[in-house]
Amino acid sequence: MKVAVLGAAGGIGQALALLLKAQLPAGSQLSLYDIAPVTPGVAVDLSHIPTNVEVKGFAGEDPSSALDGADIVLISAGVARKPGMDRSDLFNINAGIVRNLIEKVAKVCPKALIGVITNPVNTTVAIAAEVLKQAGVYDPKRLFGVTTLDVIRSETFIAQAKGLKVEDVQVNVIGGHSGVTILPLLSQVNGVTFTDDEIAALTHRIQNAGTEVVEAKAGGGSATLSMGQAAFRFCMSLVRGLQGQTNVVECAYVDGGSEHAQFFAQPVLLGRNGVEKVLPYRALSEFETQARDSMLDTLTGDIQLGTDFMK
Ligand code: NAD
Ligand code: LMR
Repeated sequence: MKVAVLGAAGGIGQALALLLKAQLPAGSQLSLYDIAPVTPGVAVDLSHIPTNVEVKGFAGEDPSSALDGADIVLISAGVARKPGMDRSDLFNINAGIVRNLIEKVAKVCPKALIGVITNPVNTTVAIAAEVLKQAGVYDPKRLFGVTTLDVIRSETFIAQAKGLKVEDVQVNVIGGHSGVTILPLLSQVNGVTFTDDEIAALTHRIQNAGTEVVEAKAGGGSATLSMGQAAFRFCMSLVRGLQGQTNVVECAYVDGGSEHAQFFAQPVLLGRNGVEKVLPYRALSEFETQARDSMLDTLTGDIQLGTDFMK
């Protein structure tokens, strides 16, 4: 199994690379790429950890060497938010970065499973899809917007609010990855009920949790460590799927499978080819139905922005 991390010298990239070096299956390769010259040094640093995972680092303008033979490519290259910014404010810089990197993926490892972390995810995934289409290698089953941070936040906040063990909490988060497009399905959490006030407060906190971190870091960036953990969890699920394990399910922002938008986050069964099946997310409460319907203009607008960028 070869995993490439693009943006590997950044806050997310380094946290993610550490978790992958420590826990990828024995015999795996970890390939780190970033424009930052420190990247080979990050790889040397990680290489002293005693696991049977080979790690190599690449810097410079061209990620091709890092991508060669990759089974999974995780992209966190780009700029992060500062207080007062919206994720969509990152579009001007990050759209071009994602486009250029995906062009290389399309050439060097077109069969790789691609996880896009770079914001605005609602839009960067649409850009990635267009690049892959233009290169004639698009397979919607192999492209994912990584929304796992919304899931782990929901698990944490629900467990805290209800005094549950966090490992007992399982929750689907649907839609996209910004503001009102993030919709945790609290009505479906097993063994627990919420008052209307709790639902409103928890939903609001989950939708604004990224901003909570951005403000707490006061100009020093956005979530990196929790995102490293979230991307690690998602990557390990991709690995288990590729290895042929059954019943591997994660929520992710994928193309197809939803009547509501071209790209939509919902539970996905993972397998040897990436998406085995986009799963239904069961009946919604009235609150959730309304929240889902009212997010759709924002979500489809975000997607259109990505598609237009590539035209
Ligand atoms: P960071 O600034 O710490 O790291 C970004 C890295 O990208 C830097 O090392 C930089 O050198 C590198 N980079 C920039 N342009 C590049 C290019 N063309 N090729 C290769 N590398 C390049 O930022 P971060 O905190 O790691 O966040 C990265 C991105 O992830 C941001 O866009 C952020 O908004 C996003 N993010 C997404 C989620 C999510 O849930 N999907 C969560 C947190 C952050
Ligand atoms: C998050 O949810 O923490 C990330 O999308 C980063 C951000 O800008 O909020």
